Amino acid sequence: MDQQLRDLVCGMPKAELHIHIEGSLEPELIFDLARRNGVALPYPDVASLRRAYAFRDLQSFLDIYYAGASVLLHEQDFYDMTWAYLARAHADQVRHVEIFFDPQTHTERGVPFATVIGGIHRALRDADARWGISGALIMCFLRHLSQGDAMATLEQALPHRAMIIGVGLDSSERGNPPEKFADVFARCRQLGLRLVAHAGEEGPPAYIWSALDTLQVERIDHGVRCLEDSALTERLARSATPLTVCPLSNVKLRVFDRIGDHNLLALLEAGIAATVNSDDPAYFGGYINDNFVAVFEALPLGREHARALAMNSFNAAFLPAGKKQALLSEVQAYFAA
Ligand code: HPA
Ligand code: ZN
Repeated sequence: MDQQLRDLVCGMPKAELHIHIEGSLEPELIFDLARRNGVALPYPDVASLRRAYAFRDLQSFLDIYYAGASVLLHEQDFYDMTWAYLARAHADQVRHVEIFFDPQTHTERGVPFATVIGGIHRALRDADARWGISGALIMCFLRHLSQGDAMATLEQALPHRAMIIGVGLDSSERGNPPEKFADVFARCRQLGLRLVAHAGEEGPPAYIWSALDTLQVERIDHGVRCLEDSALTERLARSATPLTVCPLSNVKLRVFDRIGDHNLLALLEAGIAATVNSDDPAYFGGYINDNFVAVFEALPLGREHARALAMNSFNAAFLPAGKKQALLSEVQAYFAA
């Protein structure tokens, strides 16, 4: 890839819309927090933990990801994790970020909801003040748990409603279709929360249909398997429903064998509003610009694709109209220069 295109892609203003904050926890920070909190880890050191990051599929990743999150106990831990991510995002020219967090991973261990959201939100406020990076929080329900559990989590979230822009659905996809969460998503819709869901990462196109029709989500996280269904592809394109695509994640979790096999270009050519994101950057080999560089190196993508991906990222964001327009104008000015 030529250096000019690389600089263009890395330097362009962008939004990140698919990042699990617990997936930004680097092994070094996991060990620091384990020491600080007296938590025993099943790995003797950073190097052996990193060696365990060889995943067969989504579930083999999730097992290690939940173990890593076990070191998070105090508000300051959630702050430190989020601050470290935001510093990296700022360095990658991210202007706006919508962060997923998994409260059930923590409340199940006895960590109060307020501790989790308090630390994450304080870091978002500080990063906005320091760098002008805007941020919003999307609370994810763990789909391997029951809908009743999700409802109880929503109840715990209500006192913090003002800090949450929307809800999502993550964790083990196969065998846990979106319609399992129809009632809790309907309740969230009544509350005015924005709706997204992971679908069509490992799961079939049918899960994307039910995320759209039963949950009524506005964006699909991953969604790369939509191309197996031409009616679905057309529906996503015509409705301009964004997909938050995570290329390095898809290779690490064996959705695609190699980055050169990734269907990002095919999605764009089908008229789908795809975006590029990091998913779990500490586990999958890189932050958002690493994802951009990987796909631009492996696929025949050029300057116009870069512009489209940057525009898509702000168009897909849950931003007020004025702020969105200002950021879109910033992209246009960047590419006009
Ligand atoms: N898929 C599902 N659940 C997740 C992921 C993912 O890629 N990352 C963190 N939780
Ligand atoms: Zn994800």
